[in-house]
Amino acid sequence: MCGIVGYVGNNQAKGILVGGLRQLEYRGYDSAGIAVPDGAGGLEVVCRVGKVQALAEAVEGMELPASCGIGHTRWATHGKPSETNAHPHKDCSGKVAVVHNGIIENYAALRDELRAQGHEFVSETDTETVAHLLERYYEGDLAAAMRKTVAQLQGAYGIAAIHADHPQQIVVSRKDSPIVVGTDGSSSLVASDMVAVMDYTRDVVFLEDGQLAVLTPGSVEVQDAAGRAVEPQLTHIDWDTEAAERAGYPDFMLKEIHEQPRVVRDTVSGHLKDNKIVLEDLNLSQEDIEAIDQVYIIGCGTSYHAGLVARELIEAWARIPTRVEVASEFRYRNPIVTPSTLVIALSQSGETADTLAAVRLARSKGAKVFAVTNVMGSRITRESDGTLYVKANMEISVAATKSFLAQIACVTLIALFLAQRKGRLNSRQVVSLFHELRATPAQIEYILSDTSAIEEAAELLKDCHSAMYVGRGINATTCYEGALKLKEISYLHAEAYAAGELKHGPIALLDPSVPVVAVVTESPTRMQTLSNVQEILARGAKVIAIATEGDEDVREIADCVIYIPPVRDCFSAITASVPLQLLARSVALKRGCDVDHPRNLAKSVTVE
Ligand code: F6R
Repeated sequence: MCGIVGYVGNNQAKGILVGGLRQLEYRGYDSAGIAVPDGAGGLEVVCRVGKVQALAEAVEGMELPASCGIGHTRWATHGKPSETNAHPHKDCSGKVAVVHNGIIENYAALRDELRAQGHEFVSETDTETVAHLLERYYEGDLAAAMRKTVAQLQGAYGIAAIHADHPQQIVVSRKDSPIVVGTDGSSSLVASDMVAVMDYTRDVVFLEDGQLAVLTPGSVEVQDAAGRAVEPQLTHIDWDTEAAERAGYPDFMLKEIHEQPRVVRDTVSGHLKDNKIVLEDLNLSQEDIEAIDQVYIIGCGTSYHAGLVARELIEAWARIPTRVEVASEFRYRNPIVTPSTLVIALSQSGETADTLAAVRLARSKGAKVFAVTNVMGSRITRESDGTLYVKANMEISVAATKSFLAQIACVTLIALFLAQRKGRLNSRQVVSLFHELRATPAQIEYILSDTSAIEEAAELLKDCHSAMYVGRGINATTCYEGALKLKEISYLHAEAYAAGELKHGPIALLDPSVPVVAVVTESPTRMQTLSNVQEILARGAKVIAIATEGDEDVREIADCVIYIPPVRDCFSAITASVPLQLLARSVALKRGCDVDHPRNLAKSVTVE
């Protein structure tokens, strides 16, 4: 949550900061602001409520020649979105400015202490305490003041600060919030995410907890908590920058939905060698695999849904008992995790606070934890025993789409791998399933080639107050994800149920004003789901069906049918999810919503 950026170099900073904030806007868009030295011994701070565009317009005509500065795009935690609460925050002298991502848990006690010493606070934020602490400790060396300041802080922080007396320097520190720094030899940058640094350098440093970095033009010096210089660990980024452009699409969500065939292909490619599934990065010996007696999958939101798909496949193929849990619950329970449990942590961003806490808990119980993530160098990769990367490339739209399909492709590989290594499936079965998985991108392309039925379905949904999604087996999960997408971007209430559950309560909600989306693709439970559709129709609700091409039974009864090509049931979550993503987007657009920036949400949830 919240994006921070900083630039120091030879060019004018304001445009670079605003450009960086635009790339970080997915992290929050309640307000945005920048701070730069004003050339007269002070600092100029400009903030606007709302998206970065408002800030861009504000600074456009302003005379801000400084070649150093910091910026912030906010997802409000402490204090409502307002210009006063917007970052950067200043100290009493107006010489220090700070941007922060995270939560300072002991801010109230620190603020009381600082107030008692005469410091005057203007905002309701936790961040402002950091500016006043820097003021208290500053004796001519901003890095030394930062070291003393962070020693007082409890909670999570990624902080960047500037001081008017050092107009060519940025000091940065972090704990449990991502910070990446880099330099191209003349310009040095800091950001919450490498996307805002990539235009300058592909070799970056992900700061470790407790480390500080001092940025000057062309130099990034990393220090440990005691101020000793540390040899920076460079990571090379190989993402392509095209991902940051809309490339002719009206929004990132549509672009990312259309990227899915490529994403699934890339995620799967190279993992079948000599008729064996290879996942070298899992780093598991045959002995380790034989010892696994249960799998635990943890994640949040869409990643949790990919975990539900994983459970279906791991249990079906590898026959290992598998549990799936939302990380925010897992972390506060005493889950039955032992050294023979394999834990798979799913997180697109690799920075989700609840998932990271769950990973730590699982490891403390002796389990091996493997991360499945999209973001190189993200925190989860450093906290886990091994990492499998999904090859989604940068996902900008706040609503996850391509990363979900990439996660499903990845967990499908894990399920095949475990099944083969446990001897539950033979090579012929594994190779045949792998080839079917590899065929799904072509089926997605086919679905994307004609979306007329989806538009028709969106007309049925757009004016309702509530919608229901039903499916069975793997497609109950598809429905959970489809309903989540609709809620997130169209602000329509939607609930998803395993179709058989309907008659145990939710059917009471049905009437002609509540449309139902039913996934009735070819599967061993298709007939049962069709009966549920009849029950729904008998209550007067309209039915939008996702069905397998050629299924005339469904056409006869449903109000609208979206056909998808035939696939084996175990792969239908990949194909059936695509029309549900498009449906949510289309409904959202018809309702006038901004699909890439849904209200109240942020892409990376780094707070509890
Ligand atoms: C939904 C969505 C969220 C994320 C969730 C976990 O579209 O994007 O539900 O899936 O916040 O995020 P990651 O996967 O980054 O841990």
